[in-house]
Amino acid sequence: MGILEGKRLLVTGVLTDSSIAFSVAKLAQQEGAQIVLTGFGRLSLVERIAKRLPEPPPVLELDITSTEHLDSLADRVGEHLGGLDGVVHAIGFAPQTALGGNFLNTSWEDVATAVQISTYSFKSLAVAALPLMKEGGAIVGLDFDATKAWPVYDWMGVAKAGLESCSRYLARDLGKHGIRVNLVAAGPLRTMAAKSIPGFGEFEDSWPAKAPIGWDINDPIPAAKACVALLSDWFPATTGEIVHVDGGVHAIGA
Ligand SMILES: NC(=O)c1ccc[n+]([C@@H]2O[C@H](COP(=O)([O-])OP(=O)(O)OC[C@H]3O[C@@H](n4cnc5c(N)ncnc54)[C@H](O)[C@@H]3O)[C@@H](O)[C@H]2O)c1
Repeated sequence: MGILEGKRLLVTGVLTDSSIAFSVAKLAQQEGAQIVLTGFGRLSLVERIAKRLPEPPPVLELDITSTEHLDSLADRVGEHLGGLDGVVHAIGFAPQTALGGNFLNTSWEDVATAVQISTYSFKSLAVAALPLMKEGGAIVGLDFDATKAWPVYDWMGVAKAGLESCSRYLARDLGKHGIRVNLVAAGPLRTMAAKSIPGFGEFEDSWPAKAPIGWDINDPIPAAKACVALLSDWFPATTGEIVHVDGGVHAIGA
C-alpha cells in the first residue's frame, strides 16, 4: 500500500518532465493516488508529457488568471475524480524585467503580473478546488525561501514572500474545512522556470557547495517526496508550515 492510496489529487504546473510537478505526479501515482493534471498554454505539450507518467492522467486547461477557467475547474475535475483530497500548486511566473538584477527599475505592471500568477494564484486555486474538498485534505505549494534577498531573484522573491504569507492565511481560513495548507521550499532545480531567470547559474554554482548534505540541481525527487508526504496522512497536525528541501542551505550563515 502506498501512502497516497485512495487519494484523489489535482496537480498543476506540469510543463516538461523536468517540472517539479511532473515528479510529484509520478511519485503520487506510484504511491497509489489518482490524479488529474492541469496545463497552461501549450496543452498538447503537457498532454505529451503526461503520457510519460505511469498512468497517463487527464489534462485540463487552467490559466490561473482566468476567471472562466477557475469557475469551471471544480466541475471539470469532478467529472474525472468526483472529489479531491489534495491539490498541488506548482505555478510561478515573472516577466524578464522583474528578474536578473533589475529590481530598482521594474514597473508595477510587471510586478503585478508576477504577484498575480505566483502569489494570488495560491488563493485562487484553493478557492476553486474547495467545493470538491468536502472531506478535507491537503494543499501544497512550491516556494523558494523568501527570508533573504537573493542575487537575481528580485521581484520573484517578493512574490514568494507573499506566497509564504498567503499560505499562512489560507491555513487559517481553510482549517475549519479540515484542509491543511503547506509549502515546500525547494533549493534551485533546473526547470524551464529556473532557466528563464537571467543569472540563475549563480545559484547552480553556489548552492551544492553551501548545502551541508549537498544539493543536486538536476534532482527534483527530494522536493517531490516532501510534497507527497505533505499530501499524505503522515502530517495530520501540520498546517501553515514551510518544509525546506534545500540540502540545508536555509539553516547556514553566509
Ligand atoms: N526550479 C526551481 O529552482 C524552484 C525552486 C523553488 C521553487 N520553485 C517553484 O516551483 C514551482 C514550479 O516551477 P518549476 O521550477 O517546476 O518550473 P516549470 O517551468 O516546470 O513550472 C512552472 C509552471 O507554471 C505554469 N504557469 C505559468 N503561468 C501560468 C498561468 N498563468 N496559469 C497556470 N499555470 C501557469 C507553467 O505552465 C509551468 O507549468 C514554481 O512555483 C516555482 O517558483 C522552483
